[in-house]
Amino acid sequence: MEHTTQPADRQNAVEVRGLLKHYGETKALDGVDLEVRRGTVLGVLGPNGAGKTTLVRVLSTLIRPDAGTAVVAGLDVLRQPRELRRVIGLTGQYASVDEKLSGRENLYMIGRLLDLPRRAARARAQELLERFSLTEAAGRAVGTYSGGMRRRLDLAASMIGRPAVLYLDEPTTGLDPRTRNEVWSEVRALAREGTTVLLTTQYMEEAEQLADELTVFDRGRVIAGGGIDELKAKVGGRTLQIRPADPDELHRMVGALAQAGLSGIGGATADETGGLVNVPLLSDAQLTAVIGLLGERGFAIAGIDTHLPSLDEVFLAVTGQKSSSLRRPAGDGSGPENAFEGVAA
Ligand SMILES: Nc1ncnc2c1ncn2[C@@H]1O[C@H](COP(=O)(O)OP(=O)(O)OP(=O)(O)O)[C@@H](O)[C@H]1O
Ligand SMILES: [Mg+2]
Repeated sequence: MEHTTQPADRQNAVEVRGLLKHYGETKALDGVDLEVRRGTVLGVLGPNGAGKTTLVRVLSTLIRPDAGTAVVAGLDVLRQPRELRRVIGLTGQYASVDEKLSGRENLYMIGRLLDLPRRAARARAQELLERFSLTEAAGRAVGTYSGGMRRRLDLAASMIGRPAVLYLDEPTTGLDPRTRNEVWSEVRALAREGTTVLLTTQYMEEAEQLADELTVFDRGRVIAGGGIDELKAKVGGRTLQIRPADPDELHRMVGALAQAGLSGIGGATADETGGLVNVPLLSDAQLTAVIGLLGERGFAIAGIDTHLPSLDEVFLAVTGQKSSSLRRPAGDGSGPENAFEGVAA
């Protein structure tokens, strides 16, 4: 049984135009346009209340938008909801399996709901239990599962119908690092097999690990998008990190750069703990000029490196606030410290 029927000429597995969903004063979706190319993973990033789950609910036909259009796998969410439900998989932020049934029973039941014959439903359940390392717990009530086991079962459940498009709504929130890695490798395997994935997450690292492209949401709107490197480049250039051979020369080096007044370069800073001089760069020519100048002035350099902004920094730059998942180690004051404005919930 294959449900992966999509018109061959369609490049985008998901096409969203002008999507609007308001709850009273709250603009959960406030004019969203987005596209997911077939066979790719789109990461949807955003803080609490940004509208990520609302988007997933609209795209899975669970709620109707107030306005706008959405076409998934060639099917219109408003006009062809029943057909659409057969070609999508959904792993919700809130698990959707029945606690009283065993893992195996849950998967079997979902297979039957998708019209699989009994034997096929049993076989598919077994296959997925194995794939997600759940065979030992397969006979136990899901109520006794750990958080990670539930999440894996939920992921397995969303894949029973071999969906062409899979929505993963914060699939690893609350998982320990090992389980999170397991989920990541399953998602990668799915993407390799050609499944289109729309993944919402608050973890920058997760987006970086899994997504081909990114869309950043805030207050119901798309505020940035593109490839990860593209997004980083948009936010700001690289930082050149120079390690003087003699750590005592940090400040002299910063002084020399300030005095030289190289065009477009301002604000070299000394990082005493790291023993580095940081220089914000916008071009390769600037990099060459900085290194050249330091050479001319007789500075001995032990090492250089360039550093792209992290996704946390990207997020901060485009939303003007920290991502709610920004968990820096205590006492690490690195990075710009914009005032955190809570998002109206
Ligand atoms: N059924 C509803 N009734 C009223 N308001 C709602 C409803 N569903 C969502 N909202 C509001 O819409 C906004 C967007 O919510 P949504 O759940 O889509 O955010 P989210 O990006 O998924 O957040 P989180 O990261 O916390 O899961 C929030 O302000 C939320 O309170
Ligand atoms: Mg959500």
